[in-house]
Amino acid sequence: MTWYKVLKEDALKDSDIFKVKAGSKELIVMKTGGKFYATSFLCTHEQYDLSEGFIDDGNLICPNHFAIFKPQDGTVVSNPEGSGEIGSLESYKVKVENGDVLVEVE
Ligand code: FES
Repeated sequence: MTWYKVLKEDALKDSDIFKVKAGSKELIVMKTGGKFYATSFLCTHEQYDLSEGFIDDGNLICPNHFAIFKPQDGTVVSNPEGSGEIGSLESYKVKVENGDVLVEVE
């Protein structure tokens, strides 16, 4: 596992979502409640790009059919409208060091 600097700490405001590259992997970093979290960027329903989603009440919402995920661990809070159960997003460890946000991926 390797830590990658993906953006500056002050690049995101609360409730922002940003797609980044960590090594060869693309993922999203989001900020909510003053903390940073990182998950895979494709919705597990129909692969919608979650960097185009939004944060509401501390949760990550897919704007396509409104699946709701927990930024902290990528688990599903609510399945998409009219759909059965979908899988969790991948979740990555995040830390802030010297003004940089780092994500740990393989
Ligand atoms: S693609 Fe995300 S909820 Fe359907």
